[in-house]
Amino acid sequence: MNRPPTKGRLRLLLSGLLTTVLVGGAALLVPGTANADTTVNQNSTGTNNGYFYSFWSQNSGQASMTMGSGGQYSTQWNNVENFVAGKGWNPGNTSPVTYSGSWNCSGNCYLSLYGWTTNPLIEYYIVENYGNYNPSTGATRLGSVNSDGSTYDLYRTQRVNQPSIQGTATFYQYWAVRQAKRTGGTITVSTIFNAWSQAGLNLGTPNYEILATEGYHSSGSSNITVGSSSGGSTGGTTGGTTGGTTGGTSGGTGGSCTANVTAGDQWSDRYNLNVS
Ligand SMILES: *[C@@H]1O[C@H](CO)[C@@H](O)[C@H](O)[C@H]1NC(C)=O
Ligand SMILES: *[C@@H]1O[C@H](CO)[C@@H](O)[C@H](O)[C@H]1NC(C)=O
Ligand SMILES: *[C@@H]1O[C@H](CO)[C@@H](O)[C@H](O)[C@H]1NC(C)=O
Repeated sequence: MNRPPTKGRLRLLLSGLLTTVLVGGAALLVPGTANADTTVNQNSTGTNNGYFYSFWSQNSGQASMTMGSGGQYSTQWNNVENFVAGKGWNPGNTSPVTYSGSWNCSGNCYLSLYGWTTNPLIEYYIVENYGNYNPSTGATRLGSVNSDGSTYDLYRTQRVNQPSIQGTATFYQYWAVRQAKRTGGTITVSTIFNAWSQAGLNLGTPNYEILATEGYHSSGSSNITVGSSSGGSTGGTTGGTTGGTTGGTSGGTGGSCTANVTAGDQWSDRYNLNVS
């Protein structure tokens, strides 16, 4: 939903197993051994096991995310005001995203590929699943696109003086809401971005992109593993290897990742056109 400037400290909950490799608060990654899971419940962003992550919650203590190997994370939330958390990439890109897992929602919740761009400042959602409230309710449908076994309906909404990655701002949200809800599969991101562009919804310079669990005035839990054909892009060599393996192995029902997208090229070529 909204992300403030990063603040707060990462809270590491370490299994006893790995406390011996702690140096100055940072866990050393030892090849071939299990990594300690990391739990966050304060606003924060960073890198975990080769993937970018973001956690944002409007109230403290009512939501948490525990991050495991590669692109795996789990969340739970209880009567939260609003929270958004997940793993992905920074910057985001147009490569297909494959994810799997489970997602349980009581009330108003979304499971989305979620990201931001700047110039223009845009918050975007490719909504894969949602609870008792369709986030496009009340918005005018601007088009639709068939992708990955369903139709996604396209919308734009506006947020006025709301928190963003650039502080309080007024900005548009772009939506693609999947008609056949699912938890797991491949999202051909470039198809959605092209459809938005054809509907006049232009993205800017990519910021982060995560496979996000969001809860609004609700309770629930999720356990998601995300990957992509290009692997984790934020973690250097480790990220690439981990991400590629995870994505391929845990791929859901969405079929193959055939688009060999050079993310940076495609994004700037197609989606940065409105920057003058
Ligand atoms: C996270 O940031 C928001 C402002 O965007 C703030 O209202 C909220 O209290 C913060 N959450 C926590 C857990 O500190
Ligand atoms: C979601 O609910 C199902 C069915 O009760 C359960 O098997 C699964 O573990 C739950 N997932 C999470 C992340 O809590
Ligand atoms: C999440 O799923 C993985 C298997 O994919 C499992 O090993 C792990 O225990 C689950 N975590 C939670 C919190 O349900």
